[in-house]
Amino acid sequence: MSMVCLSDFELFAKEHLPKTTWDYYAAGADECCTRDDNLVAYKRIRLRPRMLRDVSVTDTRTTIQGMEINFPIGIAPTAFHCLAWHDGEMSTARAAEAMNTCYIASTYSTCSVEEISTAAPNGLQWFQLYVYRNRKLSEQLVQRVEAQGYKAVVLTVDVPYTGKRRNDIRNNFKLPPHLKVKNFDGIFEQVETFQGQVNEKQCMTSPFKQTRAGEYDFNGAEVYGGAVNSLDPSISWKDIYWLQSLTRLPIIIKGILTKEDAELAVEHGVQGIIVSNHGGRQLDGGPASIDALSEIVETVQGRVEVYLDGGIRTGSDVLKALALGAKCVFIGRPVVWGLAYKGEEGVREILQILNDEFRLSMALAGCRNVSEINRNLIQFSKL
Ligand code: FNR
Repeated sequence: MSMVCLSDFELFAKEHLPKTTWDYYAAGADECCTRDDNLVAYKRIRLRPRMLRDVSVTDTRTTIQGMEINFPIGIAPTAFHCLAWHDGEMSTARAAEAMNTCYIASTYSTCSVEEISTAAPNGLQWFQLYVYRNRKLSEQLVQRVEAQGYKAVVLTVDVPYTGKRRNDIRNNFKLPPHLKVKNFDGIFEQVETFQGQVNEKQCMTSPFKQTRAGEYDFNGAEVYGGAVNSLDPSISWKDIYWLQSLTRLPIIIKGILTKEDAELAVEHGVQGIIVSNHGGRQLDGGPASIDALSEIVETVQGRVEVYLDGGIRTGSDVLKALALGAKCVFIGRPVVWGLAYKGEEGVREILQILNDEFRLSMALAGCRNVSEINRNLIQFSKL
């Protein structure tokens, strides 16, 4: 099978993954307007390519938080990689290491943070954090990732509750018994204040059903089970200070979509912002992430690095995001498609194809390196 573009991997994954797994990865919230707009929005943007600029040598390298990566495309945090490939996140980490890019490991990984960093000891890894009602859980995780050499904490702020993903409800999606949210293996026994651990019914998707605090099935069910229902919906800006008090690592805030929140993020001293709508899995009706980027970049004025995820499927999508001011982009679903195809090798192929396309788009637009990519490349009259 010849894999030419990312859609080829999507098709393969759809044909080969169990339906419930495919549905979980593909899901958007409600009617999936935002999920779908994430992709369509790139197609509305037109480029203004420049010619005769000697593009015989092109360089895609860049830096994020001072660390060099081979191209401005990293791996966004996504849950449950072992559903797609037997050693899941360990393969993802090895692929990112081999390609010299950044992997943001999810709190909801099916391998532990220790297994991930050991699998790719020279890889650039960031850790994505969800904040639990029981703050001890998050505190311990932050200490562990710092000890393991992760280089940043990415605080996801768009999940006070899980969005309503219809197919997951229909499928009664949950992790199969042989898989776990490995980061919490054994921890529950240690955390005295944790109440409950009742194997409650799944499917607590709406805030209304989430009033049963203390009833958790923590055997790893992110979705509609304990691990999500035990997230703290009272999290607020002051918790940035709490997180800063726990770690010396840079803090990146993920899930910002407005200039107001971007300003607050900078004022609270974060080191980076990921413009994201969680792949359209949270608030349906929010903007495509690429459409939210400009106002945030304008507000931030270079005070911190701004990144973006959501709907990146081609090299020209990457070029457009960089032209609009993103320092780097991250990909979510394509990584699990790569895993489903061939594990580590599949993820490497995804990154390679995307980088090859990006390099080609850059050259065809007359850019020799990423510092030559700027707003002049965008045809604003078309937007
Ligand atoms: C996610 N995302 C996510 N984000 C996060 O901060 N923590 C997480 O555990 C997860 N889990 C997760 C699972 C799955 C299956 C998906 C598709 C997404 C959101 C993710 O980081 C990112 O924002 C989007 O996936 C980006 O959009 P694309 O590239 O999937 O279009």
